[in-house]
Amino acid sequence: MNATTKKNLDWSKLGFNYLKTDYRFCAQWRDGQWSKGELVTDPMMTLHEGSPVLHYAQTCFEGLKAQTAPDGRILLFRPELNEIRMRETAERLLMPPVPTELFMHGIEEAIRANLAWVPPYGSGASLYIRPLLIGVGENMGLRPAPEYDFRVIVCPVGPYYKSGGLSAISLAVIDIDRAAPLGTGAYKVGANYAGGLLATRKAQALGAYEALYLDPKERKYLEEAGSANIVLATKDKRFLTPKSPSILPSVTRRSIVTLAEKELGYKIEERPIDFLAEYPNIAEMGATGTAAVLSPIGKILIDQKWYPIGENPDQPGPIMIDLYNRLTQLQKGEREDPYQWTKAVQLD
Ligand code: PLP
Ligand code: COI
Repeated sequence: MNATTKKNLDWSKLGFNYLKTDYRFCAQWRDGQWSKGELVTDPMMTLHEGSPVLHYAQTCFEGLKAQTAPDGRILLFRPELNEIRMRETAERLLMPPVPTELFMHGIEEAIRANLAWVPPYGSGASLYIRPLLIGVGENMGLRPAPEYDFRVIVCPVGPYYKSGGLSAISLAVIDIDRAAPLGTGAYKVGANYAGGLLATRKAQALGAYEALYLDPKERKYLEEAGSANIVLATKDKRFLTPKSPSILPSVTRRSIVTLAEKELGYKIEERPIDFLAEYPNIAEMGATGTAAVLSPIGKILIDQKWYPIGENPDQPGPIMIDLYNRLTQLQKGEREDPYQWTKAVQLD
């Protein structure tokens, strides 16, 4: 068996879980410099007990996917946007940004070293890529870490939500905010997610898949879901998405908005969205994210009342199905990419 012989996995049954693959890419920032990085086999990390990542959550990450195209190429989707977002997040946390070339090299190396784990074309699965940057080293006071570790983990994944594939999800507004108006909501910092665990638990206890956050200032306008941005198609052919300084700039949402505008002729409005005021005019809603892809939203719980969305809250509607197909066909290289969003990994 050579390194590219695919693992004997039931690809179509994969969920969104950690699966140990053969290699991960690691680089270190020591004495003010990034190392050139290397592939390692050990999934365990040894950290100093004083590491700021452990005490003060000086950590950020990214998430992107690679897919196998019909012609065997392995395609990344807009990785440069993940690189920019990780750089901006690192700067927000006073971490040394991973240089662009090192970020891209780390991703491509981790993929090349784990070709056997890249789901084959048509399997329905993708290779999820998780770049991680953490502050490490001896420390006690509240200050930036003396050293940093960058790591790229990859693992094959299936659908994020347990509903699987393209099926409707539900969201619940609960009594927790994800971010403060001038906080870290727009950045992919680990602490945002630790703070959201209870929100997800509460939303799930109410029968929803995950939490839907409102703006933290007035608790009136839509923000985003725990792991995805929100888009909304109206009955009069407008396409709305929340504008807020405290939501994560989703790569998937930006792509879906472009497809809705350029390919379906929607008028785009990025602005504060008062869900209850907008509700009578909502045709369909969706949650966008690398893990979530475009998950149609079937119903929303607010103040103990479920609001069904679209014709049938249990089924994806035609607009979200159309956009999902357009997006995923691009990501899988099944159609021409006029936007130049996909980037083939150099395989030799
Ligand atoms: N919002 C949050 C809070 C997320 O964690 C994610 C996932 O990365 C997204 C939105 C979607 O962003 P993207 O489409 O870049 O994956
Ligand atoms: C992603 O979609 O890449 C994310 O990082 C969301 C995460 C909660 C799985």
